[in-house]
Amino acid sequence: MQERIRNFSIIAHVDHGKSTLADRILQKTRAVSERQMREQFLDSLDLERERGITIKAAAVRLGYQAEDGREYVLNLIDTPGHVDFHYEVSRALAAVEGVLLVVDATQGVEAQTVANFFLALEHDHVIIPVINKIDLPSARPEEVALEIEETFDIPAEECLFASGKTGEGVDTVLEAIVKRIPPPKGDPDAPLKALIFDSIFDAYQGVVPYVRVFEGTVKPGDVIRIWSTGKTFEVDRTGVFRPGALERTAGLGPGEVGWLTAGIREIGDAQVGDTITLEAHPTDAPYPGFKPAKPVVFAGLYPVDTQEYNKLRDALEKLKLNDAALDFEPETSEALGFGFRVGFLGLLHAEIVQERLEREFDLDLIATAPSVIYQVTLKSGEEIEVHNPSDLPDPTLIEEIREPYVRLSVYTPEDYVGPIMQLLQEKRGQMITMNYLGKRVELVYEVPFGEILYDFHDRLKSLSRGYASMDYEQIGYKPGELVKVNILVNGEPVDALAFIAHRDKAQTIGRAIVEKLKDVIPRQQFAVPIQAAIGGKIIARSTVRALRKDVLAKCYGGDITRKKKLLEKQKEGKRRMKAIGKVEVPQEAFLAVLSAG
Ligand code: GTP
Repeated sequence: MQERIRNFSIIAHVDHGKSTLADRILQKTRAVSERQMREQFLDSLDLERERGITIKAAAVRLGYQAEDGREYVLNLIDTPGHVDFHYEVSRALAAVEGVLLVVDATQGVEAQTVANFFLALEHDHVIIPVINKIDLPSARPEEVALEIEETFDIPAEECLFASGKTGEGVDTVLEAIVKRIPPPKGDPDAPLKALIFDSIFDAYQGVVPYVRVFEGTVKPGDVIRIWSTGKTFEVDRTGVFRPGALERTAGLGPGEVGWLTAGIREIGDAQVGDTITLEAHPTDAPYPGFKPAKPVVFAGLYPVDTQEYNKLRDALEKLKLNDAALDFEPETSEALGFGFRVGFLGLLHAEIVQERLEREFDLDLIATAPSVIYQVTLKSGEEIEVHNPSDLPDPTLIEEIREPYVRLSVYTPEDYVGPIMQLLQEKRGQMITMNYLGKRVELVYEVPFGEILYDFHDRLKSLSRGYASMDYEQIGYKPGELVKVNILVNGEPVDALAFIAHRDKAQTIGRAIVEKLKDVIPRQQFAVPIQAAIGGKIIARSTVRALRKDVLAKCYGGDITRKKKLLEKQKEGKRRMKAIGKVEVPQEAFLAVLSAG
């Protein structure tokens, strides 16, 4: 049986066509009838479809009749395509023996192509390069094949050409999966060793871990043990992934990819990367490399309507059932009232969570600017972690502040190297290496994570006319000359607007923020001073001028559609206003720091 199994993943840079190719493979294997076929089948949340990104790994089992006349089982494990989900990608890759490395024939190799290639290489996987989108007039597949040869040392002849859109070349891809990727190994009688590569929460079944069995067998009635927590559960059901459905099986053996239910109620008991074994016959070593999901970015989330605090808490609790990386604790802000400080894997994760809260739970929220986690050593010797800039203790009490760093790889055509290096310098980056890969350059830097959090990606894209791409991983903490900047509106410090910055950049950022606030805070009946301050020292200021009556008249004198639009805008704005003292401050103001870095 194992001989006829092929476990594989598709990896690609964002938008190079991974989901489209997966759809086409599903269709070719007739796993899904044309009628059933929804676009982007593997992305199951509505949100994912709308945004066109994959946020949660999924799997599907397909039957394929190969040219040799035999029936094969192909398990396709989907991987998220965004850097926020780096760890999940590495766990999905741990579950397979080979990958399709999809590269857009018009774009060539990009940062995540390289990052994903090395992840696959670390696992000693068979790598099948697939040059996709060959139907496009601007496609240059031969050139990209040479680029792949140069970059990855994979002979250009091994590249397959395909189009997920038209289906051209997809048969060859399927044959290559069967011929080039080896079948899984493993002893059905050995102690159970199953890796959790994803999990979902079901209201009735509880947490459903998705597993890849490496050794042994698991079946209903077995008592399993979760390696990291030591907790035990009795298996209720096991099964495999059919397109759009979870199909039950009598058990799961070595090499198989499937799911199980065992009345697990907490997502923390079935985290991605953990190992499942049998209580009665345990393995002696887990699958290596387990890292519990840990948030790296925190932001405040507050209900616009203070009555909705409990509703927000319930919603966060519900989302957490499904999302081990989501972390939250109650927080009180003088400016915004009662809310939560919420931890995320990155900005994309933060955006997705906020959108789900608003859409699925019908909440109106004010979000404060996301911030990294600072480590602080106090003069007293005490160590603290700061999740919210306004919690940074008085400078006289601080011995040292440390900020998180990432190892950042930027991948760019050589023409843009100069401006990108300048940008990296501005972001306090330190160059580690610079590699030429044909006409492309890989720049590797160590940069403070906080510096690339907000506008870095956008600036990188605009500097390089869209051609440069990036990838990063956390590498730990380093001390820095960091200060807290307070923002005062109408003379009052607003805790939710405080931020932490490098001493040398505090004034520039402070200036940019007060200017931005001047524009986004609506005019009131009186002039509103806005100031940025370090301790008692004002470092920047601006003023929202008082309202003049004729401005309004002019504004609303236009044609009817314009007027309607304005009124709607005003309504939308109203929903997201918070009164700070006598001043109404809109949501946008709390994110001003995002565009000021
Ligand atoms: P993420 O899920 O965000 O990582 O993207 P992806 O790599 O899954 O890309 P996706 O399949 O969503 O495709 C990205 C865009 O390219 C979509 O607009 C597709 O319609 C288009 N596309 C994908 N494959 C092809 C192809 O073979 N030919 C053409 N012309 N367009 C394609």
